[in-house]
Amino acid sequence: MKNILVTGGAGFIGSNYINFILNEREDDRIINLDKLTYAGNLENLKDSENKPNYIFEKGDITNSEFVNYVFRKYEIKYVINFAAESHVDRSILGSEIFFRTNVIGTNVLLEAARRYTVEKFLQVSTDEVYGSLGPTGLFTESTPVAPNSPYSSSKTSADLMALSFYHTFGLPVVITRCSNNYGPLQFPEKLIPLMIINCLNNKKLPVYGDGLNVRDWIYVIDHNKAIDLVFEKGRVGEVYNIGASQEMKNIDIVKLILKHLGKGEELIEYVKDRPGHDRRYAIDSSKIQNELGWKPSFRFEEAIGKTIDWYLDNKNWWQRIISGEYQKYYETLYGNRI
Ligand code: NAD
Ligand code: TYD
Repeated sequence: MKNILVTGGAGFIGSNYINFILNEREDDRIINLDKLTYAGNLENLKDSENKPNYIFEKGDITNSEFVNYVFRKYEIKYVINFAAESHVDRSILGSEIFFRTNVIGTNVLLEAARRYTVEKFLQVSTDEVYGSLGPTGLFTESTPVAPNSPYSSSKTSADLMALSFYHTFGLPVVITRCSNNYGPLQFPEKLIPLMIINCLNNKKLPVYGDGLNVRDWIYVIDHNKAIDLVFEKGRVGEVYNIGASQEMKNIDIVKLILKHLGKGEELIEYVKDRPGHDRRYAIDSSKIQNELGWKPSFRFEEAIGKTIDWYLDNKNWWQRIISGEYQKYYETLYGNRI
């Protein structure tokens, strides 16, 4: 039995990961450490919460005393660090919490991992560390890091620190850098769920700038299968890019959602661009494909339909979210844009 500390397991990708892994395997014990920020929701884990090999610990990864206690209590030998402040727009509204959670929090986990001699530490990172691409080319693992937002710069700092723990202390660190995820349980501040929910509520769909920015989309289950493979078989000290080669312009996604939900394009509203908005992301994932045999199994056209249907079928989930603190955030971010 492996004791795996999963941080940030109540968020979008982490909860999908835990639900997926606990369905696949019974021989691992997952200890989910999550602070339950605005983005953390235990409802995401209702399929897992009663499983005997699942434990939840509410806490903050920046609290080293608490983190050390969790490592000791559960004899943690494996770590997958999903916990982060994850939204670029929020990092523009206020960067301090991004530095605290993403950089200091990762440092606290790395120090504990070193103290308790963990056997693998997987740092979940993002393709945003590479900065922005022009109309052609792909990010490879040897693309120099060049982050542009407070969010991506904090993730880059965490990656560099994790790699330094490998080089300096021999801590068995491995890093995954994934492109934009979509799927069930994504907090409706990110493009796809925000557009679906606004559309269902007949609210304007706020498209930044000219709408021609490109992201490379991957279904969350494909990301999590890749994480699992890197966790099991990835070489320590290495970075693995993860992406499904599905580049889309933002405006095309918005139109697709409108069409799927039978709504007209008059709902689209072009708004003031995001400051420092990266133009294009696109991932070369040949390393993980060739070395570990991973390949994505979901195509965008099919999985976006599944995703929209999930939001249609789970109105209670997102209605509870958008009735709370979300209102204030929405007003702050979009109030002076539209
Ligand atoms: P999310 O915002 O949905 O969830 C983050 C989770 O971390 C929440 O449950 C939150 O409560 C928890 N958390 C935040 N601060 C914490 C703290 N100090 N201590 C403990 N827990 C804390 O994020 P997500 O979209 O699921 O992203 C998960 C990870 O994947 C992040 O590291 C992110 O950078 C990375 N990533 C995300 C994407 C994407 O498209 N969403 C793409 C590539 C990489
Ligand atoms: P987002 O989901 O925030 O992911 P990221 O910025 O990490 O790639 O945004 C995806 C793209 O959609 C990005 O180019 C910004 C754009 N966008 C909008 O046009 N309107 C919106 O309301 C949001 C949230 C994003």
